[in-house]
Amino acid sequence: MKFDGQVPVHVAIVMDGNGRWANARGLTRVEGHRAGEAALMDVIEGAIEAGVKYLTVFAFSTENWKRSPEEVKFLMNYNREVLRRRRDELDGWNVRIRWAGRRPKLWPTVIDELLTAEKLTSKNKGLTFTMAVNYGSRIEIVDAINQMLEDSKSGKIKGSVTEKTVQKYLLTKDLPDVDLFIRSSGEQRISNFLLWQSAYAEFVFLDVLWPDFSRKHLFEAIQQYAKRNRRFGGAVDKPKKAKPTTR
Ligand code: IPE
Ligand code: IPE
Ligand code: MG
Repeated sequence: MKFDGQVPVHVAIVMDGNGRWANARGLTRVEGHRAGEAALMDVIEGAIEAGVKYLTVFAFSTENWKRSPEEVKFLMNYNREVLRRRRDELDGWNVRIRWAGRRPKLWPTVIDELLTAEKLTSKNKGLTFTMAVNYGSRIEIVDAINQMLEDSKSGKIKGSVTEKTVQKYLLTKDLPDVDLFIRSSGEQRISNFLLWQSAYAEFVFLDVLWPDFSRKHLFEAIQQYAKRNRRFGGAVDKPKKAKPTTR
């Protein structure tokens, strides 16, 4: 796949719309989550094909605990199962698996599976694939502030805090800023995903429910990204040549 323009280094995706996909088919929400696995694998392969270096996906938010106990239980078990089932395949694709998320509330067996996958693939040099499980950006920033306060008291942080210091305390400390932020399902919101990291990201919202998503949609988003003019606050003065006036 060739793109006219730059391929984003870091792509973040809010994989949304599983429940609606299932309910529209007369199925329960969890069947939608099940159907999302194939979409994710295709998108990971597509990201590798496109030359994306970092792919970060939102799998479970710190707010998703509000869902029914059945759905939460399913999602915990399912995240663990998918990791176990797919880690060797991903390892074979030279993918480095990473976890971004908080420990509190998260099932220890899910944490174990995430850490096992991280360890197994830690030497891989291909795509860095980060799963955001029990992730929420505001609490991530609050955790970072509290840790910085502690480290300041103990003398580990000397002087004042800079943007670089904050970056070092985030759950995504080893990832570059997000270039392209994609959300499926038609919703146009961030839902507390990578707030600090997406300060200058380009946003693409696609009207496709996650189980119907494939690398084709990823490529479409990259194509849109490639056409954008990223200025980061800067500006170029280029007045159009005035047309000669005719009388
Ligand atoms: C995204 O799909 C998956 C998770 C949040 C785990 P949803 O479950 O949010 O599906 P919709 O948005 O309700 O359709
Ligand atoms: C965001 O989707 C979380 C994940 C995709 C894991 P939600 O479906 O939870 O977000 P809202 O509730 O529509 O904002
Ligand atoms: Mg949703």
